[in-house]
Amino acid sequence: AGLSVVALAAGKKYFGSATDNPELTDTAYVAELSNTKDFNQITPGNSMKWDATEPSRGTFTFSGGDAVVALAKKNGQLVRGHNCVWHNQLPSWVTSGNFDNATLTSIVQTHCSTVVGHYKGQICKYSPPHSWDVINEPFNDDGTWRSDVFYNTMGSSYVAVALRAARAADPAAKLYINDYNIEGTGAKSTAMVNLVKSLKASGVPIDGIGVQAHLIVGQVPSTLQANLEQFTALGVEVAITELDIRMTLPETAALRQQQKQDYQSVIAACKAVAGCVGVTIWDYTDKYSWVPGTFSGQGAACPWDANLVKKPAYDGIVAGWQS
Ligand code: G3I
Repeated sequence: AGLSVVALAAGKKYFGSATDNPELTDTAYVAELSNTKDFNQITPGNSMKWDATEPSRGTFTFSGGDAVVALAKKNGQLVRGHNCVWHNQLPSWVTSGNFDNATLTSIVQTHCSTVVGHYKGQICKYSPPHSWDVINEPFNDDGTWRSDVFYNTMGSSYVAVALRAARAADPAAKLYINDYNIEGTGAKSTAMVNLVKSLKASGVPIDGIGVQAHLIVGQVPSTLQANLEQFTALGVEVAITELDIRMTLPETAALRQQQKQDYQSVIAACKAVAGCVGVTIWDYTDKYSWVPGTFSGQGAACPWDANLVKKPAYDGIVAGWQS
């Protein structure tokens, strides 16, 4: 501790946190989120998603996302847009509309181009340029396509439709496909490799693969670095986009030490791979982590505890950037 995380990563990689609008009324929380010695990047955890931005067809609302961007601008922080097309947090007009292929194609184009276009040039210039998770979670864990309204109506063409619309709306934004359980090598990572290869072969714009990294203490995949390298070998960048490392509660000193090692391993893997542009933790404090609400009996996944006090995991992050 005492070292600036951002200084350690300086000029080469970013380090950031997800946040969400209800948290922005917590002044102690915002003070640390705005501490640019620790964070030079923010991802809105919910407020740029489809249900928030286009709650009814053709009616767009950007107030939540705009508030996060305004904070990041004030702080001089980079923003990752999250996300354009995802099976979850969709308004019912999309999921229950029974649209045909042509209509849903048009809906996806309008959604992506309007949302990405809204934020064009709105985000302060940093290196690397700001990024969008255009496609979120397209695959099942076995590497097959997820059966959702987009795939079931448009086949895999929805990926290219969304990426092309995003590129046209903001040519400077780095366009990503983002997924979980692609940290190590395996069927799902192979599916991602094959998708990116086929997009590139077809001239579809794709700049990066987002590796979410919702991990479990003691279970960081040993193939993480090799897997990031297999992604960057495709000619795209990678980012660790949603890092947290959960444990079965209660939190013990031993678990905290293992978690410190695990955070260090993930940061060190990104540091070691030239094409890994940065790491985002999926909120920095256990106070606002999504984990306990989803995984019963698990939590303590973040580097800061629920009182906003740094845990050993923070020192692991510093050590990872120093490695
Ligand atoms: O907005 C409603 C609010 O009106 C209602 O009163 C409240 C009561 O439950 O729910 C609110 O919606 C919640 C929403 O977050 C906004 O706070 C949903 O219940 C809740 O399920 C939703 O959780 C989000 C989750 O995505 C949804 O899948 C998490 O905050 C968000 O951190 C999480 O983020 C995802 C990434 O986008 C993609 N990768 C996985 C990651 C973790 O699930």
